[in-house]
Amino acid sequence: MYAEVDKDTCIGCGACPDICPEVFKMEDDGLAAAYKNPVPSEFEDSAKEAADGCPVDAIHIDTD
Ligand code: F3S
Repeated sequence: MYAEVDKDTCIGCGACPDICPEVFKMEDDGLAAAYKNPVPSEFEDSAKEAADGCPVDAIHIDTD
């Protein structure tokens, strides 16, 4: 599974690294990035939770 943050959509709310710091982090530009791809299987559920929790749907999950 892969996770990607659409930087054009992210508003930097910071929720995703709060929910799943193992996969998401805030970068110097104030926006989030997914820094661990493919997402380790033990973090897939929390990464999906982070995607569901993003207020602007900026996180895309690819389950291939
Ligand atoms: Fe950005 Fe959504 Fe995360 S707005 S900081 S991708 S929860």
